[in-house]
Amino acid sequence: MKLVVADSYEDMSRKAADLFAALLEEQPTCVLGLATGTTPIGLYDCLVDDCKRGALSFADAQTFNLDEYRGLAPDHPQSYHYFMRTHLFDRVDIDLSRTHVPDGANPDGQAACDAYERAIEQAGGIDLQLLGLGHNGHVGFNEPADSFPVCTHSVTLTQSTIDANSRLFDSADEVPREAYTMGIGTIMKARKIVLVASGQGKAQIVHDAFFGPVTPQVPASVLQLHRDVTVVVDREAGSLCA
Ligand code: GLP
Repeated sequence: MKLVVADSYEDMSRKAADLFAALLEEQPTCVLGLATGTTPIGLYDCLVDDCKRGALSFADAQTFNLDEYRGLAPDHPQSYHYFMRTHLFDRVDIDLSRTHVPDGANPDGQAACDAYERAIEQAGGIDLQLLGLGHNGHVGFNEPADSFPVCTHSVTLTQSTIDANSRLFDSADEVPREAYTMGIGTIMKARKIVLVASGQGKAQIVHDAFFGPVTPQVPASVLQLHRDVTVVVDREAGSLCA
């Protein structure tokens, strides 16, 4: 694992975006794994700027998002489909038919998740996966558990995740209780992984995930076992990693 401590949120975003820009340049048909949450927004802004000035293109790339709330249609403002269109897809030259987000509108979780896992395999797997980090160590929506979930699956969100994500909804009551997410096995199959974390509030979990024991109680800790992970944090989030 490589830990990069950036000077600021902007610097973290630029450094992480550079890893995506480099891959898009070297391998225009690459398969990108993407993430939502507030942390990657600056990174997406950097990629949009690069694309607007003609320095990179998403035209031949494919994308797979980590997760989606169950029960939200793609045009719901709090859906991750909508987030991706707002922050990236509608602002770059990507072909929307080459973007994939789990189908939260499909109430049949097993069917939706199996289809998603198959689509990733058919695309040849993920070349570079972006991850954020939940305060409890979740990646995607893989919550602390007794084992690491292997494939894309349906999850019941923990109260702490519902509370954390309620800031983006009118009230906590509106946060869906379930989601579809890539499994830890799906994520670990990505050839490269970049995780971003920002702010003092993430300092303890960054430390525990990357310098503590590998345990499904801290899902991100499994990344210590991956052979090509870059963790890009700002000074605050990296403050407990001496
Ligand atoms: C959500 C997403 C995760 C994300 C996490 C952290 O729960 N499912 O993929 O990493 O939030 O979000 P933030 O970056 O806003 O702290």
